[in-house]
Amino acid sequence: MTSATAPGKIILFGEHAVVYGQPALAVPVFQVYARATVEEGEEKGIWIEAPQIGLAATLEALGHDHPLAMAVELVFRSLGQSPQGQKLRLRVDSTIPVASGLGSGAAVSVALIRALSAHLGQPLPDEQVNALAYEIEKIHHGTPSGIDNTVVTYGRAVYFVRGQAPQPFSIRGHFTLIIGDTGIPAPTRQAVADVRRLWQADPKRYNALFDAIGEIVQEARQALEAGDGARLGELMNANHALLQELTVSSAELDALVEAARGAGAWGAKLSGGGRGGNMIALAAPQRAQEVAQALRLKGASSVILSALGGNHESGVEGTGAL
Ligand code: MEV
Repeated sequence: MTSATAPGKIILFGEHAVVYGQPALAVPVFQVYARATVEEGEEKGIWIEAPQIGLAATLEALGHDHPLAMAVELVFRSLGQSPQGQKLRLRVDSTIPVASGLGSGAAVSVALIRALSAHLGQPLPDEQVNALAYEIEKIHHGTPSGIDNTVVTYGRAVYFVRGQAPQPFSIRGHFTLIIGDTGIPAPTRQAVADVRRLWQADPKRYNALFDAIGEIVQEARQALEAGDGARLGELMNANHALLQELTVSSAELDALVEAARGAGAWGAKLSGGGRGGNMIALAAPQRAQEVAQALRLKGASSVILSALGGNHESGVEGTGAL
């Protein structure tokens, strides 16, 4: 049996604008993860199970455009092997809520690509894992920037610009990131498509919003490298206001953002595609529990606390094959 895991991810700054060439900052979230296992089966064919989404089917039955089938087929193609005649059982488990902005689709793809390529005797290097996961992201997102698969593959904090090699960055100081889930699933594909329609109807206005978000990202990188929590909080608030203008916030996200600020967070914003899913708040470690409690009281379906900076610098921890 061969297993591999991949972490979740959260975008700190720059979602949506990153699709249009602006930079964004994101970190892995190791508290949640996807795990794929591959073992030899008794019967001919490739059997795929994903209990969290109630899936149990053969590769053929899934069809070529299903993300899991696509991951399997891409791995075989990349390795110059054929899925015909194989006897394999694949299983994908994930603790990452689907359509919540935590990169569940990317993590499942990365874990499956790693486990299957390793099982077939040719573990793919990260660069190729990332490239294949990006192909699958196109099914999930339509026009993805590639940030989700990149953070999840490398398992480290990245400064990301579409089409460029990701740049690692350092985080000075100790912050706690509080990640609050509205519990409302919101497919990124829909939000990204809606923003695209708005941009097409009024490119001048939306390009200006994307530029403003890009400037916030540059400043946020400096503030992270300088360890300036208060400034990061202000920048999160400013980024959230611009995301509201992009129409990707929601009443539930706004309520959690307000609750976090009211409980003493330096700042808060939605994270990922928006419309539902998760928001993030940044606080000093001694304030984090209060912020988390405020989010729970306001109806967050789950709250994750994640250390940012200090020993956790660049978020590098074990991912990859177990
Ligand atoms: C999704 O995690 C982030 C978005 O910017 C989409 C993308 O970058 O592909 C909304």
